Amino acid sequence: MLTSEPAARLGPDLRRRYTAADLAVLTPDEARRFLPEGGGDPRADITLAWELLYRLEPDLYDRLATAERLHPGVLGWLPATADRIVEVGAGPGRLTLELAGRGREMVAIEPAAPFRQILRRKLARAGRAGRVRVARGFFDDLPVPSGAADLVVACSVLTPAAGHGGEAGLAEMERACRPGGLVAIVWPNNLGWLAARGYEYLSFPGPMTVDFASPAEAVELAEIFYPHAVRQIRRRGSPRVPYELLGINPPRDVAFRKMAG
Ligand SMILES: C[S@@+](CC[C@H](N)C(=O)[O-])C[C@H]1O[C@@H](n2cnc3c(N)ncnc32)[C@H](O)[C@@H]1O
Repeated sequence: MLTSEPAARLGPDLRRRYTAADLAVLTPDEARRFLPEGGGDPRADITLAWELLYRLEPDLYDRLATAERLHPGVLGWLPATADRIVEVGAGPGRLTLELAGRGREMVAIEPAAPFRQILRRKLARAGRAGRVRVARGFFDDLPVPSGAADLVVACSVLTPAAGHGGEAGLAEMERACRPGGLVAIVWPNNLGWLAARGYEYLSFPGPMTVDFASPAEAVELAEIFYPHAVRQIRRRGSPRVPYELLGINPPRDVAFRKMAG
């Protein structure tokens, strides 16, 4: 398992980590959504490289997501209780574990089988397995009934691209939500697209850092995910890395729409 290997053997950054041969790991359903016609090259298409990461090295992504904690303001703003919650693209559970105790029932939908396995394990460990159903599924065909959920949420997932949600994905999230319920996109990547579809926006202030487990892990994971920042991270020698240094928007924001009641 990569997590126990020394950093020197971890290999190249995400842009050069996988090759076209690795695409064989995708199921036919996944290939249909993620691969452009005629193939695909993870070295030219970073989105494809992330999909391979989820399937080939899911623990590596989990370590990154664990370090990139959501702003407490976002977690506090989401409903404290709900009858039914649906989460799309749950991954290894960064948000799922936070919400698992808030819903009478929760469905966590995730296409990547290795993430579903990690998530089930974490939920069992947290004593939440009984409340959360982990289901295979994709944005464009959510395996939930219409109008059933009080909260339909996605974190660091939805984009305007069809393979990663798009118009059909947003429409499906809204279909799953009951009248008067809330659709929330945590850490949204395209505000203009969501604003044009009636979504409001909230951002919680304050300094934010990526909190790695140790200075060594900060360097190790930066070499893969933030190679441009490695020198500074190494020089600082701290496990806490300000988002400004990485040049990315911190996970402090949410786009949301309250469905007409
Ligand atoms: C950046 S990860 C975010 C995972 C998790 N929500 C988190 O906050 O760490 C993106 C997730 O979206 C999932 N995903 C990608 N395409 C999807 C689709 N078409 N439908 C549903 N989920 C998708 C991936 O499998 C992955 O778990």
